[in-house]
Amino acid sequence: MPSGNPARGAPPALQSLDDLRFIYITGKGGVGKTTVAAALARAMAARGKRVLVCMCNAKERLSGMLGSSAIGDEITHVAPNIDAVNMVPEKCVEEYGILMLKSRTLYKALFENRYVTTFFRAVPGLYEWSMLGKAWFHTTELLSGKVTDEFEPPYGDGWKYETVIVDGPATGHGLDMLRVPKVLLEVAPSGPLRKDAERAWHLFRDPSHSGVVMVTLPEDMPTNETIELATAIRGELDLPIARLVVNACHTPIFTLDQRVQVLEKGRIPELAPAHARAEREAIQDDAFQKLAALGVPTAFLPFILTQHASDPAAILTLAKSL
Ligand SMILES: Nc1ncnc2c1ncn2[C@@H]1O[C@H](COP(=O)(O)OP(=O)(O)OP(=O)(O)O)[C@@H](O)[C@H]1O
Ligand SMILES: [Mg+2]
Repeated sequence: MPSGNPARGAPPALQSLDDLRFIYITGKGGVGKTTVAAALARAMAARGKRVLVCMCNAKERLSGMLGSSAIGDEITHVAPNIDAVNMVPEKCVEEYGILMLKSRTLYKALFENRYVTTFFRAVPGLYEWSMLGKAWFHTTELLSGKVTDEFEPPYGDGWKYETVIVDGPATGHGLDMLRVPKVLLEVAPSGPLRKDAERAWHLFRDPSHSGVVMVTLPEDMPTNETIELATAIRGELDLPIARLVVNACHTPIFTLDQRVQVLEKGRIPELAPAHARAEREAIQDDAFQKLAALGVPTAFLPFILTQHASDPAAILTLAKSL
């Protein structure tokens, strides 16, 4: 683990994310979003929370991380206290339609699949909303089978899922998806779609119940992208950022003085590995410093030195930092 800057020195204690009903994970492609979704789900589930992880029509890698069987477009129980689903837009819209019309036959009669697909392409945002709206819907489900958009379950009942974690798409698409309910509020005519968007947005905006988790690596490009992402989430969208997760952090082996000495010696062959390492540590510290300026509560996950960073055992190790 990093030890100062914030890495050199004890990182500040973090308030847990356990009370959040809705967590939306995003960040640059390949930085570890699904890894963090898996580790966070494991951490919360171990603390007794009932968790649903929703993937967004993704190449499914979560089951490998959780050691479960493959996760498809139906909600599946994958580990103690953890259910998961890989959301597929066409199927989400169908579910939504059935929910509205209260009948599968009626839905099928009204919406032939081909029509639905064309409809999707024609209505901007519907593709994203079908998934985000579904994930939100699961925050309203009660153990009794009823639903409520109150922020607390009624007396004597409880949440079916205490936390819904969305393993969101990478930065650009991740933002597009978050933008949709806000746009729907502005453009959709009043009706059930708009009402749901309003209820969802109300939840997403509330920092005590909902938050975005940004994942990044302690490197140049991901750091810059994360800063832009944070600006858009806080500015344009005005949504709460619950956590920044800096993934795959290397424990420094050099003190700052040693690092300077190694780097000053320049690139001489005998020192090549040390030089590379010192450079990496310098880049990492730079990233920490820039990211700290965001003022977001930050968790640091260690670099897992193995081919098996996606194995269930590695996920359990990472869960300890979340
Ligand atoms: N802490 C870590 N240490 C080492 N390797 C890691 C770590 N976290 C993730 N990885 C590796 O990085 C790769 C990308 O991880 P992951 O699939 O979680 O990223 P992602 O952001 O979900 O990617 P995508 O944008 O494609 O969905 C995987 O091979 C994973 O094993
Ligand atoms: Mg992923």
